[in-house]
Amino acid sequence: MIMNSLGTIITTEQSPSTTEFTFVVNGAKVLKGQYVQVPMQDGGMIFGFVNEITKANRYFERPESVAEFEKGSGIKSNFPVDSWEYELALVKILGKFAANKFARVFHPPSPGMKIYEAENSILKSFLGFDEKGLDIGTIEHHDVPAKLSLTRLVQKHLAILAMSGAGKSHLASVLLEELLSRKKEDGRIAVVAIDIHGEYLGFAHDPSLGRQCTLVDCAELRFPLKKLSTETIAQWVPDLSAPQREVLRQVLGLLKAKKDQGFSFKELIEAVDASDVSKDEVKRALKRTLNELKNYRFLSRKTENPKLGTLRPGNMLILDFSAIDSLRKKQILVSLIAKRLFMLRKKNKIPPFLLLIEEAHNFAREKAEERDAVSRSIIETIAREGRKFGAAICLISQRPVNLSTTALSQCNTHIILRVTNPNDLDHIQMSSEGIDSRVAKSITSLKVGEALIVGEAVNYPVFVSVRERRSQKRERGLPLHQQAIDFEEKAKKKEKGAEAFI
Ligand SMILES: Nc1ncnc2c1ncn2[C@@H]1O[C@H](COP(=O)(O)OP(=O)(O)OP(=O)(O)O)[C@@H](O)[C@H]1O
Ligand SMILES: [Mg+2]
Repeated sequence: MIMNSLGTIITTEQSPSTTEFTFVVNGAKVLKGQYVQVPMQDGGMIFGFVNEITKANRYFERPESVAEFEKGSGIKSNFPVDSWEYELALVKILGKFAANKFARVFHPPSPGMKIYEAENSILKSFLGFDEKGLDIGTIEHHDVPAKLSLTRLVQKHLAILAMSGAGKSHLASVLLEELLSRKKEDGRIAVVAIDIHGEYLGFAHDPSLGRQCTLVDCAELRFPLKKLSTETIAQWVPDLSAPQREVLRQVLGLLKAKKDQGFSFKELIEAVDASDVSKDEVKRALKRTLNELKNYRFLSRKTENPKLGTLRPGNMLILDFSAIDSLRKKQILVSLIAKRLFMLRKKNKIPPFLLLIEEAHNFAREKAEERDAVSRSIIETIAREGRKFGAAICLISQRPVNLSTTALSQCNTHIILRVTNPNDLDHIQMSSEGIDSRVAKSITSLKVGEALIVGEAVNYPVFVSVRERRSQKRERGLPLHQQAIDFEEKAKKKEKGAEAFI
């Protein structure tokens, strides 16, 4: 295929170098963010990314003459200014493709060399896409699907970061569609989604993917008391004093030995009462704590729901947390579920899995008091050690500043959508590799559904337009205008009803 050249490399003070070059555009359309290639004399091909485009025109170089002409009939009517305008594209060199291999660039291209649009087939492998990967959209300005390798994207964890409404949950849904649609021979993992706002419920009702999904409402979550250890409870309630902990240990030990059918909270509290601790205030404080846990209503005598041990490859468990108000309860549940999943995975009782956590800054908060950090340690543990065991997490957050840096830095792929808050932007720039200040600037101008992928999943930072969803969208929580309409209609009906009654 003969391609038309986009332009010609020129000399500037510092380029062409091994890291960048500038070319003058020859009339073809060149866009910021486009990939280009330069055929080299040795048969290799240098690949680059258009980082910026500037326009120049010698007629507008001198302010005093522009001012002078504009006072009269205007500079345009006196000179052929349009034919003197030209564009310069600044290209960041990414690497070289030679002898079917990608390499760094050790020698710059020469001034005068021709620039071409990057060939799609080479671009795919240059960026590190995988034919059997997860198709999340297309790369900007090129007709190339962004197919991310499952292993590269997920194994070393993933973070989706952006401001509210930028398309995080949409992107997560696209990823889930891809994960659920994988073939057995390509490797399928199980997914557990902590659905904080009830945004993933649609999957359970989807005509094609619904069969692979199990939806558990938060009111139906159950975990047997007898399986809890003193350490676990102490982690949930960090202000438990040493004497209280001791009583709890004794009482739990006793009940577990006596009641192999399990026991209720009532029995647990009675056993605390009956314990031979002399100090009443220790018992009282412990009972208060246990009552708080009881009120969360998920600890049961025997029932366990969901049974995490039944997780299957290619299936998804959606835990609908949308009706839970208490953040502590949510944290305790996340900690419990994450811990059980990791333990089961280490024993190889469940398939490799991805644990997706929405509002991750609430569950792995950077500067949290111990009491508010119940789930942080297990998330950090999975982030640090999960990769060896096939236990992966996907953290989604609109407040990256508040997200544990330990957890975030262990997420080797970051997908960043629109962010405008400067603090968040700084934090992202610091914690994501490969974001230079130019790329960081582009993050503020991304549109909804446009994403920047950096890290393990791709060879170079890539901007992607996230594709439409294929599955059914169904959310708990209607748009504000719809809620307002519904409210007024309901009120009107009520009024009419009352009138009719009178
Ligand atoms: N790639 C896309 N194509 C089409 N629509 C999109 C795309 N990305 C997002 N949207 C739409 O934009 C809206 C906001 O997206 P989404 O709910 O995913 O944002 P969010 O980042 O999760 O917000 P929040 O922080 O409030 O949870 C949704 O209505 C969604 O359907
Ligand atoms: Mg969301």
